[in-house]
Amino acid sequence: MNKSLFFTALLATVFSVASLAQELKSPNGQLNMSFALQADGTPAYQLSYKGKAVLKPSKLGLELKNDAKSLLNDFVITDAKTTSHDSSWEPVWGEEKIIRNHYNELAVTLTQNGTNRQLLIRFRLFDDGLGFRYEFPAQPNLVYFVIKEERTQFAMAGNHTAFWIAGDYDTQEYDYTTSRLTEIRGLMKNAIQPNASQTPFSDTGVQTALMMKTDDGLYINLHEAALINYSCMHLNLDDKNLVFESWLTPDAVGDKGYIQAPAQSPWRTVIVSDDARVVLASRITYNLNEPSKIEDTSWIKPTKYVGVWWEMITGKSSWAYTNDVPSVQLGVTDFTKAKPNGMHGATNANVKKFIDFAALHGFDGVLVEGWNIGWEDWFGNSKDYVFDFVTPYPDFNVTELRDYAKSKGVKLIMHHETSGSTRNYERHLDKAFQFMKDNNYDAVKTGYVGPILPKGYYHYDQWTNNHYQYVVEKAAQYKIMVNAHEAVRPTGIARTWPNMIGNESARGTEFQAFGGSKPNHVTILPFTRLIGGPMDYTPGVFEMDISKINPNNNSHCNSTLANQLALYVTMYSPLQMAADLPENYNRFLDAFQFIKDVAVDWDESKYIEAEPGRYITIARKAKGKSSWFVGNVNGEAPRTSSIAFDFLDAGKTYIATIYADAKDAHYKTNPQAYTIRKVVVTNKSKLAQGSAAGGGYAISIVEATKEQTKGLKKL
Ligand code: NOJ
Ligand code: CA
Repeated sequence: MNKSLFFTALLATVFSVASLAQELKSPNGQLNMSFALQADGTPAYQLSYKGKAVLKPSKLGLELKNDAKSLLNDFVITDAKTTSHDSSWEPVWGEEKIIRNHYNELAVTLTQNGTNRQLLIRFRLFDDGLGFRYEFPAQPNLVYFVIKEERTQFAMAGNHTAFWIAGDYDTQEYDYTTSRLTEIRGLMKNAIQPNASQTPFSDTGVQTALMMKTDDGLYINLHEAALINYSCMHLNLDDKNLVFESWLTPDAVGDKGYIQAPAQSPWRTVIVSDDARVVLASRITYNLNEPSKIEDTSWIKPTKYVGVWWEMITGKSSWAYTNDVPSVQLGVTDFTKAKPNGMHGATNANVKKFIDFAALHGFDGVLVEGWNIGWEDWFGNSKDYVFDFVTPYPDFNVTELRDYAKSKGVKLIMHHETSGSTRNYERHLDKAFQFMKDNNYDAVKTGYVGPILPKGYYHYDQWTNNHYQYVVEKAAQYKIMVNAHEAVRPTGIARTWPNMIGNESARGTEFQAFGGSKPNHVTILPFTRLIGGPMDYTPGVFEMDISKINPNNNSHCNSTLANQLALYVTMYSPLQMAADLPENYNRFLDAFQFIKDVAVDWDESKYIEAEPGRYITIARKAKGKSSWFVGNVNGEAPRTSSIAFDFLDAGKTYIATIYADAKDAHYKTNPQAYTIRKVVVTNKSKLAQGSAAGGGYAISIVEATKEQTKGLKKL
């Protein structure tokens, strides 16, 4: 028997199947996937990396509602096609100039006995992981159907360490818990922080992207790509057998998906490597999305911004203009008669102060929240019809501020808090976007705080996901960029709709003012939330003692100042905020220089060091320039980071400005202790740099002439 026949026979035994296994290898041969039908015609697949099991035989299928027979078993393979693909594409913005899309594909068509229904499962195996999805071809016996549950399994080969947040249909804004898979159940209660709007859907339910590490050093990441017209997938763990199964977000009546064939599910993704850096460098999620549907993308611009924001988040000022709770009839309430509360943030004078600050320091934009009426009502009783998105408070003069911003070369960034009222937002959307265009705004931050209206819907169900998508597509018609907060976690859709320049969808910096986040949070996010796309994390906090901003807020930002600088490199986003107040930046202008200098769009990225939960070091080359920026973020344990500058061009000389933790820095006790030094570097240089607990460092590297390096030490 030749080798491959023997292997196929072996797999057939493992699966105990009637059919022969279909095999697929990644382009470099290190990943192996096989697909087969089990004895009862249940589809199953398994995956290995360099001969090690990543997924043990795992079942595939969908349970249908009100249907005599689900798409779970009794299938026969009626077709199997293997193809290869290798191409490259240029993202509109991103971590690198060119992205390679290289995979081998297996498309299996299954036909079900009795129903004669067809289900196609398409697998794409890349060098860094697997993507697969269900396709429902047009056919007479499967036209409209309702999904009761998707039953896609991911059978783990061991009791891995996982970096997880609780399965929840309404919030993703949790700190991560690091534990063994079998410990999830016991830790679930602790994993839910007080501001959770929901209870977890199960004691062993977690969200994606789920990052895991095996005891023999494999890194495994489970997520999804191209979540379009489908409900978001969570994972439920059978902790006896260590098998994860898909758990879709239900709608108001408990259904999990309304499908009309031809249609397809999102891709389920499994990124795998024995090197954690490969997970950060993986572009599987984007590659599994469609190319850009926006033809002219010239209006989409990576943006660095400041905002009338942190003062509200910390509680120093308010979004609302008055503490009265008027019973608002949209557009008719005369706010000039309301009593101002004296704390309103979005006043003409304050916005001008921010515009001046942005102009002075070269920022592109100023976000202003709390400019429109409705906040009083929202924090009162009514949850519906709160905002109309076009009526300003009396102390916010739209045209005056528009002209002022323009005269200073700064763009105002619009804010639409929808209060979770998606239908209300859809009804006002055209007017709201036209209002933006009329007043020179070309980017909007949207938000979905509170339970979703219509009642009973959830933040991540199919219907609500379609709402987010509708907003992004409608915005594209108006040439508007969107940064959605509290929306479903991204799944690479920004490739298709590159006007989606930001998303929150995880625990952002705001929580540093709501009690604090774990100091290693930012060493996990790039392995989890960022797998699907950029995050509007809003870094740049320089004053960690929040009571200095608002004496009634005792929160502490669990990060050193140098760590905050590093985030501009490690937390990739084409949209970066400098979150703190101008007065805090003015106290540390030497460190603020890094935020001014750092790029927001890149030609190249090098993932130098990475270990989830512990540290990440990344170097990136600024778009169209010779300068580089390096960021290192560090978890709880102080550590020395060792890097080589071999990414620089040979034969060139550069000046590196290193912003690092001082020797005695600590995220809790001494967060503002930093040092700044300038040294000469070449591509031969090496650096050993200490990072404090919750600390890090940031480096800007600029090409220099001999003349400019005079008097500076070589590294
Ligand atoms: C929560 C968002 O994350 C935050 O950025 C925003 O300021 C508030 N909602 C109010 O819309
Ligand atoms: Ca939020």
